[in-house]
Amino acid sequence: MPFELLIRNGICMTPAGPARVDIGVRTGRIAAIGDLAVRSADEVFDATGLHVLPGVIDSQVHFREPGAPHKEDFDSGTRGAILGGVTAAFDMPNTRPLTIDRETFADKLDRAQGRAWCDYAFFIGGCAANADRLAELERLPGCAGIKVFMGSSTGDLLAADDATLSRILQAGVRRVTVHAEDEARLQSRRAIVERSGDVGDHPRWRDVETALRATRRILVLAARARRPLHVLHVTTAEEMALLARHKHIATVEVLPQHLTLAAPDCYRALGTLAQMNPPIRDLPHQQALWQALAAGVVDTLGSDHAPHTLAEKALAYPASPSGMPGVQTLLPLMLDHVTRGRLSLARLVELTSAGPARVFGVAGKGALAIGFDADFSIVDLNARCTLRSDDMATRAGWTPFDGRTVCGWPMATVIRGRVVMRDGEVLGPASGAPVRFRSPDGEHGLHEIIGAGFRT
Ligand code: DOR
Repeated sequence: MPFELLIRNGICMTPAGPARVDIGVRTGRIAAIGDLAVRSADEVFDATGLHVLPGVIDSQVHFREPGAPHKEDFDSGTRGAILGGVTAAFDMPNTRPLTIDRETFADKLDRAQGRAWCDYAFFIGGCAANADRLAELERLPGCAGIKVFMGSSTGDLLAADDATLSRILQAGVRRVTVHAEDEARLQSRRAIVERSGDVGDHPRWRDVETALRATRRILVLAARARRPLHVLHVTTAEEMALLARHKHIATVEVLPQHLTLAAPDCYRALGTLAQMNPPIRDLPHQQALWQALAAGVVDTLGSDHAPHTLAEKALAYPASPSGMPGVQTLLPLMLDHVTRGRLSLARLVELTSAGPARVFGVAGKGALAIGFDADFSIVDLNARCTLRSDDMATRAGWTPFDGRTVCGWPMATVIRGRVVMRDGEVLGPASGAPVRFRSPDGEHGLHEIIGAGFRT
């Protein structure tokens, strides 16, 4: 039987390491890996000189739909994803209305159907209003899990006090994803930036103690509730030291922004475009993130794609909103770090494919292995390209990395056996589907894969 797609002559990042092998795809899944030179296929992709990675899963994006389509929507956000080599994205619940119940969750699934270019899942926000229903909500097909904002950022989603956090942690079993900044400390220090109006003070307002205090609190509460955590966008040396001692409770995410930009230069060069939560800090913290990444403390790399328009960013700080686009630049920036020798390509694959799959319990994605979805990010490690705001698909229309030349570039994106991007061209139709998750009940629940049916 011919393959639907045959990827030939690439260097494939298999679980056993890089290998010059071919990959045959049938019914959207990897059907064969090896020397497939004599086999026929409907479509052959010649990957000579390229590396074939398992599809990049960006487990933190804000696609802004519903509520702020002038910043982004599922069409533009996921277009950026596939242009950047991302095959699946997990969208955050701080939309308007908030994604905190069955109706708002079902509405997102409806909106993404037929308009999303990559596969997708949605987080449900955990808060006082829905804490008692989270055990059922986290099992909805297409749900990546529960997301908690301990400190206020963009939008109204907040669970700041220990009593609410404990209720959330006690409801359900899946890993809870946390934005760890301490709300009480944020409020008590806001006068610093109200007075100065200087975005350079953003990391002084949202200081190390603000992040550390929240991470410490949530670790204690999670240990008490026996609930696993995923701590998002960790920015401080102090939290990394703490998290290294709590790997049995918490997995850890870092962002390319925090690995690439540093204070005070980023605020001087970019002003409020560099404003995000938690903030970009100085070089010693950036170095600590790299050390934690090398030491294995870090499990995932997400983009925290958080678009705001240039007009919104032009408001006088601190009225300017926090966040920057990133889904399209995640892989190019990280490939550049690979080609500069800051991490290996194998480690990158762990952080962007295997890591998110393990942390969130994704079924059938995250590895170049037989039976897995045929999701590939095909990259050229020798291509030198310049990131340009004009080339970004985001409605926001900018990237903080405008003008930066990187070495390493996504040349093609393949999702469940369909080439959806090649040489910067998007190839329709939009056919993203909800990501499936393994049952949190383990082996006994295998029949109950949380997704659009048990695809056979
Ligand atoms: O900078 C940020 N922007 N941090 C967040 O936690 C939220 C995000 C947004 O939605 O704009």
